Amino acid sequence: MTTFWSLYVTVLSLGTIFALTWLLLSTRKGQRSETTEETVGHAYDGIEEYDNPLPKWWFMLFVGTIVFALGYLVLYPGLGNWKGLLPGYQYLDSDKKTEFANGEAGWTGVHEWEKEMARSDAKFGPIFAKFASMPIEEVAKDPQALKMGGRLFASNCAVCHGSDAKGSYGFPNLTDNDWRWGGDPETIKATIMGGRHGVMPAWAEVIGEQGVADVAAYVLTNLDGRTLPKDAKADPANGQKLFATNCVACHGPEGKGTPAMGAPNLTHPTAFIYGSSFAQLQQTIRYGRQGQMPAQEAIQGNDKVHLLAAYVYSLSHQPEKTAEAK
Ligand code: HEC
Ligand code: HEC
Repeated sequence: MTTFWSLYVTVLSLGTIFALTWLLLSTRKGQRSETTEETVGHAYDGIEEYDNPLPKWWFMLFVGTIVFALGYLVLYPGLGNWKGLLPGYQYLDSDKKTEFANGEAGWTGVHEWEKEMARSDAKFGPIFAKFASMPIEEVAKDPQALKMGGRLFASNCAVCHGSDAKGSYGFPNLTDNDWRWGGDPETIKATIMGGRHGVMPAWAEVIGEQGVADVAAYVLTNLDGRTLPKDAKADPANGQKLFATNCVACHGPEGKGTPAMGAPNLTHPTAFIYGSSFAQLQQTIRYGRQGQMPAQEAIQGNDKVHLLAAYVYSLSHQPEKTAEAK
């Protein structure tokens, strides 16, 4: 932290504590010791307030929190660059790091966490490394690997893709055979390692509002064989022409998608992550879409991503799994 921010934090923290202390003392009605039936004279929704001093126990509790706060800030890091008087924290970013890591320089939460991570790396590292040297298809058949991959998935991926990996609005289903970027093992791994950014341009300004309606109508009726809402003012035939000039470059002449660009297949209703109703299609085409899959390489490292890729691959290759379970 720079000196400026260190001072900023310090002044703000101490200033708040002192201001609250002043507020507490200045509003305390110390003179009156007995309670009264008098009110302070204002009413909110019929609720009035007695003109009584703060209860003593409450006042002492407040004083206690102030003393605690000051004591804490002296002992522990909290005020800008101040590292606290307790041993341990001083070494967090000094060259005494080794003493710190060996636990000679006192107890800290960070230190405990680092020790725990080192223990778990020592325990699981070799197992991860073993699977990382096997082809993904093989790993995807190993029950232990799938269990570990499933756990990694639950804590890192389920927030977006769902705990059953079936996705939701804006997040693709990973258990079917519709792939935006490709479903072979190495491509799945590349997707997870490097992340993906799907860019669907906005079309409102290019083909106009009527064009958006027409091409949405074409996608709806022709590509997935459904019918337009009765009141829709749209011409699918004109939409087909617009599709041929504007959309095939990415979605392909038959609308089956181009995995190299992450342009999805527009012929399966289930492949749409932004909805496939007439209204939703127009919304997508009018404003464009920017789906983002965050890169995992720096967070998980190669070996864990390898397991995750195997787990994801196994989800759409269930027959082998069930065959083994029998
Ligand atoms: C912040 C939300 C988020 C998280 C967390 C996330 N993803 Fe994704 N993921 C997405 C989005 C959005 C896409 C679609 C990207 C696009 O629009 O092309 C995606 C796409 C994918 C794809 C490609 C699907 C296809 O059809 O080609 C795979 C595979 C995938 N994610 C796996 C994972 C795994 C494994 C994890 C956990 C390590 C994970 N994702 C975590 C949001 C997320
Ligand atoms: C530059 C390449 C490109 C062009 C041109 C393009 N698209 Fe897309 N489109 C994409 C990509 C990439 C996505 C995926 C966006 C995402 O995952 O967030 C997409 C997504 C979509 C979706 C949403 C699918 C879903 O999952 O819900 C629809 C619908 C769509 N495009 C229709 C069209 C139509 C109609 C046109 C022509 C007017 C068109 N696109 C032109 C690249 C393109």
